[in-house]
Formats: sequence, structure tokens, C-alpha cells
Amino acid sequence: MARICGICPVSHLITSAKACDALLAVRIPPAAEKLRRLITLAQVVQSHALSLFHLSSPDLLLGMDADPTKSNLFGVLEVEPQLARNGIALRKFGQQIIERLGGKRIHPAWVVPGGVSDPLSQQDRDAILAETPETLKITQRSMQWLKSVVEKFANDVDSFGSFPSLFMGIVKENGNLAFYDGKLCFVDATGATVADGLEADNYQKFLGEKVEPWSYLKSAYYIPKGFPDGMYRVGPLARLNIAQSCGTPLADAELQAFRRAYGMTTLSSFHYHHARLIEILYCIERMEELLNDSEILSTHVRAIAKPNALEGIGIAEAPRGTLLHHYKIDEQGLIRWANLIIATGQNNLAMNKSVLQVAQQYIHGEKITHGMLNRVEAVIRAYDPCLSCSTHATGQMALKVQLIGADGSVLDEVAR
Ligand code: NI
Repeated sequence: MARICGICPVSHLITSAKACDALLAVRIPPAAEKLRRLITLAQVVQSHALSLFHLSSPDLLLGMDADPTKSNLFGVLEVEPQLARNGIALRKFGQQIIERLGGKRIHPAWVVPGGVSDPLSQQDRDAILAETPETLKITQRSMQWLKSVVEKFANDVDSFGSFPSLFMGIVKENGNLAFYDGKLCFVDATGATVADGLEADNYQKFLGEKVEPWSYLKSAYYIPKGFPDGMYRVGPLARLNIAQSCGTPLADAELQAFRRAYGMTTLSSFHYHHARLIEILYCIERMEELLNDSEILSTHVRAIAKPNALEGIGIAEAPRGTLLHHYKIDEQGLIRWANLIIATGQNNLAMNKSVLQVAQQYIHGEKITHGMLNRVEAVIRAYDPCLSCSTHATGQMALKVQLIGADGSVLDEVAR
């Protein structure tokens, strides 16, 4: 299942293993659960670092109208070398943990039904712990930088995917931020709880998936509000809008500052970037807690069983939002039916609305300029879509933008 995606393999592995735990009807050993939590957090750190630094920092540092040949990590290296190095260091930190635990950085097969395949060695535990203080400092320095640049985009924020919607994610029993385990919760644009304590096992009662003839990407919606009014957002911004708090000191201080700056419920998707950095801080703090728990070194890491149930559902928070795997098997344990709900598909309606909003704000006249096109792309990047696991694609992902006049004629067309 890690092979589903080269960008978020660990998330698919975790969610799949949880669905398989349900098929085996086992309770996994406590150390296995802690190790799964650890690799989940490592995946979030490396993925968020990739999104913020490698993909979006050029827009934030150099501006939306910057020369496209410079608008990449190398351009950032020229202007702010330390910033680019911070991003590379954060990504490497997460990837190395995945490698230490899973044996390789991409497509590890270490998370298995019933637990994980190998325990964590004391040597690896100590090596990861030795790196966390510096990694926390890098994150805090990056936070200062991000706060300083967000001010420069004050005019963009309100038209950058800023609109009322529902937000969904899983939370812990106390309402705090969760990645590995929890109940599903929906809040509305005012922060009021729409539904909470929802079990993934009943997802078909509240999560609808609409197939549109013009897209390979399904559009998920909250069934009680119907389609498309049941539009909801998932991912870092949604998680912070839903959670009572993070539950770790540094991340909570930043979450409070975030709420003081943008309100208790943040509606602009521009702030996905800032939310991502707060989550990186949380993940590193939480990893320290897990690694300082001596039980994580236990060698009892896998429950062995044969299939004991014919249907299993697993859910977890992937970097981009809630991920769900649902399998049905036959008596021999062969998978006969499967459904996956990917975070990116759950943001599809909101991404489309964001593109429309940015286009209405920035596209004027009869020509599409680079700055206009880049803003359309940048608002999509704010959601950090993972198209490789949410759509069917071959070759290079195409981007085709048409500017259509009031009479329906195509005024301009740009393709990448
Ligand atoms: Ni993916």
C-alpha cells in the first residue's frame, strides 16, 4: 500500500495497516502503536517541509510576480541561503527517521497488520533524540521568517481561498490535535461544532463522494449539508481550526499567536502555510515525548493473527488531511473490494472555489500574465495537493488555463 504514492507512502501504509488491524481484530502492542505514531509524525515533518520550503517559499520570499526561472528553491538559496538550508534540514530530519524506522525513505514496508515488523534500537532512538533540539530551533527561526513575510501579503490573504466552509479532521478525546488516532469532527466557519465523536466505521453515513464527468478527482462532501454545500476543508488549517489545542508547549504558544492574529477560526487558505509550520513544531515536540518513553524500545511490536473480520476501516491524518482506507475480504483473506478517501479529494471543492476566487480577483483584460497564472497555481499549492494518490495520471501533470470572455469565446490560453 505504500506504493500507492511516492509522496505520502507512510500515510497510506499506516491507514492501510489500521484497516488490516480491524480485519485481524487485534489490539496492537503498545510499543507498536508508539512507533507508528513516531513514523506518522516524521512523515508530516518531511512532507510539510517539502511543501512550505521547496514548493511555496519561492512565492513567499520572491513574490508572486517573480521571474519564473528564479521561482524555485535555487532562487531561494541565492537570496536567503539560510532559509533554503532550514527547509532542507527539516525535510532531511523527517526522512532520516522514516529511513531509520522503515529501512528506506520512500515506500517502506515496516508498518504491518498487527503492528510493525521491527523494534526501534536504542542507538537509533538516541540518534533521533540528539537531533531534536536543533530541529526545534530551525523550526522556530523559520516561524519568525514566515510571520514577517505574511504581512507583505495582507492584500492577497482575503482573496486567496478565503470563504466560509466546514472543516474536518480527527481529534483526541480531549479535543486536541491528533494524527494517528481519534474521532472525526466537523466545525463550521464560526468554529461551532457541527458534528463530533464520529466513528470512521460509519463514514458512509456522513462522507459523500461525488464523481464529476470533467475530473478524475472525486469531490467529497458532508452528506447532511448535501452537494456542493457540504464542502469542507481538511489538512493543517482544518486541524488547527478544529483542535482545542495542540497539547505541546511550543506549538500551543504558536497556536495562540495564530489565533490572536487571524481569529479562532481561520478562513483563508493562505494560512495553510503557517498552520503547516505550527504542526511541524508540534510533531517534533511530540516525537521527543514518545522517544523519552522507555516503552518505545520494547521488542514486542507485532500481534499475529489470521483474518477475524470480513470488513475493516482505517483512518489517520496524513500531512494533507484525513485519509481513510476501507477493505472487504473473503474467507481466505483476499481483498475483494476497497475504497480509499484521499485528503486531496476532500479539498477538491475548496480548491476549485479558491481558483475561481483568485481568478476573479487577479485576472483582468484579455491576456493571462505570469503573475496571474502563478497566483492560480500558488493557491492550489497552499493546499499541497497530492495528485499522485488522489487521481489517475500518466506522464506530466498538465495545467491548462483558458481565459473565457463574456460571449464565451476563448481570449487567451496558457498551458504548462
Ligand atoms: Ni499521496
